[in-house]
Amino acid sequence: MTENRRVIKAVIPAAGLGTRFLPATKAMPKEMLPVVDQPAIQYVVAEASKAGLTDVLMITGRSKRALEDHFDRVPSMEATLEAKGDTEKLRRVQEATDLGEIHYIRQRDPKGLGHAVLCAKQHVGNEAFAVLLGDDLIDERDELLSIMIDVQEKTGGSVIAVMEVEPEQISAYGCADVSAVDGEGYVKVNGLVEKPAVEDAPSNLAVIGRYVLHPRVFEILEETQPGRGGEIQLTDALETLAAADGPGSGVHAVVFRGRRYDTGDKLSYLQAIISLACEREDLGPDLLPWLKDFVAGR
Ligand code: G1P
Repeated sequence: MTENRRVIKAVIPAAGLGTRFLPATKAMPKEMLPVVDQPAIQYVVAEASKAGLTDVLMITGRSKRALEDHFDRVPSMEATLEAKGDTEKLRRVQEATDLGEIHYIRQRDPKGLGHAVLCAKQHVGNEAFAVLLGDDLIDERDELLSIMIDVQEKTGGSVIAVMEVEPEQISAYGCADVSAVDGEGYVKVNGLVEKPAVEDAPSNLAVIGRYVLHPRVFEILEETQPGRGGEIQLTDALETLAAADGPGSGVHAVVFRGRRYDTGDKLSYLQAIISLACEREDLGPDLLPWLKDFVAGR
């Protein structure tokens, strides 16, 4: 394995308990909640696949078997659809299995995002890799991951994605203090803080759920003490890497200005479904006028 080969591995943490969506998530992983007609997680795996990340490692936990089933083949269902000549449904069923090679590992203790990423250490080895958080969906028409991979290759360190948010929203995110890099479209990260109070936030640049990391992050994570919420935070490990010297140090950020949908809480989840459904050719033309009437009638 060489360190400078193009990023091909993606890690998708999916061990969260989904308590915000109880009781829907009592017996079903939150990643399987449908966004229009496909589980949220499938958008994320499809995004990874589109960026050339064909080796996906999902970090799962208890009651997550439905995830494995979803990305597996269902020969009997496929045979029935084929016999009926329902090629469109067959295509949609097979789509999920054609996205790449998916591996699973369990995070035994829910010790936070940093700990979940550390569970990928052995699978990833000594290569740069991507991390995609399942709560964030990036519109497929807007490029982000492939740009981040290019920046990682150019800078040799780690790369995060940030987005401008209203200052009062910053406490829901990791927050980055950045400075411009001459002649480049990306910025240098000077510091990071996980979910700061509004008055302590160094900027209104929120960390969004896409990372391309140098494997040195694993060493740092092993030493990272529990931070906000008593959890081992990826943000804290990246803060350490940003200030470190030597190979694999340094963090840069790509400022994303495209469309992001958050499925992490009930309100934003509903907004994500409505936004995506309105864009769909098969649903938008009927949904949008209905929505307008519905809103006008309230
Ligand atoms: C995680 C990260 C946070 C980041 C966010 C993006 O938080 O810890 O830094 O801003 O994802 O969605 P979570 O939303 O899992 O609490």
